[in-house]
Amino acid sequence: MISSKARITAFGAYVPERQLTNHDLEKMVDTSDEWIIQRTGIKKRHISAVKEFTSDLAVKAIENLSQSSGKIIKDVDYIIVATFTPDFYTPSCAALVQRALGLPKTVGVLDINAACAGFVQGLFIANSFVTSGLAKKILVIGAEVISKIVDYADRNTCVLFGDGAGAALVERDENEPGFLAGYYGSDGNGGEKLYCSGLATSINGTKFHKQKYIWQDGRSVYNFAIKTVPHGMRELLKNAELSIDDIDWFVPHSANMRMIQFICKELKFPFEKTLTSLVEFGNTSAATIPLAIWLAEKNNKIKKGDIFALYGFGGGFNHAGIIFRF
Ligand code: ACO
Repeated sequence: MISSKARITAFGAYVPERQLTNHDLEKMVDTSDEWIIQRTGIKKRHISAVKEFTSDLAVKAIENLSQSSGKIIKDVDYIIVATFTPDFYTPSCAALVQRALGLPKTVGVLDINAACAGFVQGLFIANSFVTSGLAKKILVIGAEVISKIVDYADRNTCVLFGDGAGAALVERDENEPGFLAGYYGSDGNGGEKLYCSGLATSINGTKFHKQKYIWQDGRSVYNFAIKTVPHGMRELLKNAELSIDDIDWFVPHSANMRMIQFICKELKFPFEKTLTSLVEFGNTSAATIPLAIWLAEKNNKIKKGDIFALYGFGGGFNHAGIIFRF
């Protein structure tokens, strides 16, 4: 169990208007709707406008959170944005969000980069800050514009990724704290299997396959995930002193439906109790988990008191899981 005096009180999300379907991709690269659905489960993804960036999506996700939950966000004291596609090296997306929302100068701002585990890592930080008394009310956002670093001539990557943002509000609650347990880990040797080049000229001694665009060895990433997540989930449940049957909703990072089905089978967890966002939105990295919860909330699937297990994994490699009561 982890120490907590905090709980998640609301979710919100936003995806850009433009949609890119599998049939659209058939006209761009040598692929097919059938191949993409069979190998990944993805049907379409949303693509940001030319001048629409991660901070713009984050702001809209927060506005949606506020409108749909009636929560006031003018008194938040910290903003954490998880992304690996920030608008700039500096200033941070979180600082851009503070300005765009007209929030006071007392608000703390922080971007984190943990790729597809970023939203869960952001929740770790928010729980710690609120529990320690450093903050009372924190916005955690997972937001990405991956389409801007995708090579639309590379069928290995362009069919997978999309753009979107999801937000959660973490508030102090000493009487009914929500965070129950966490688990995390990393393997930096996986860096060259999934990357987007930056200032350096090679990765782990290997020359980049592609400059400027996201590149991955899909099979290696797949194998990393199907080994790491079932083990991580078992450790996470042990830390929470819960069994898999206690979990109402499992929300793994939405990268690939076959991967998620395999993980559920390994864990003997019913696939119907899994929340995903990849069919509609593709892999939106740090945003897939909050988008999946937002979709479930829209469909009236979830209720107060439900126990969620979230598990993010991706570039680094790194992974992180969290269990909370909503
Ligand atoms: N359309 C048609 N054929 C394709 C496509 C495509 N879009 N992409 C690859 N192929 C071909 C390959 O060239 C290969 O052809 P060959 O046998 O003639 O060489 C064949 O399909 C099989 O390729 P594999 O890579 O073996 O296919 P696989 O079943 O592994 O599926 C996939 C590929 C979907 C990428 C899978 O490996 C995967 O999902 N991996 C995980 C990826 C992931 O989740 N990455 C993101 C992590 S999150 C983050 O941090 C950003």
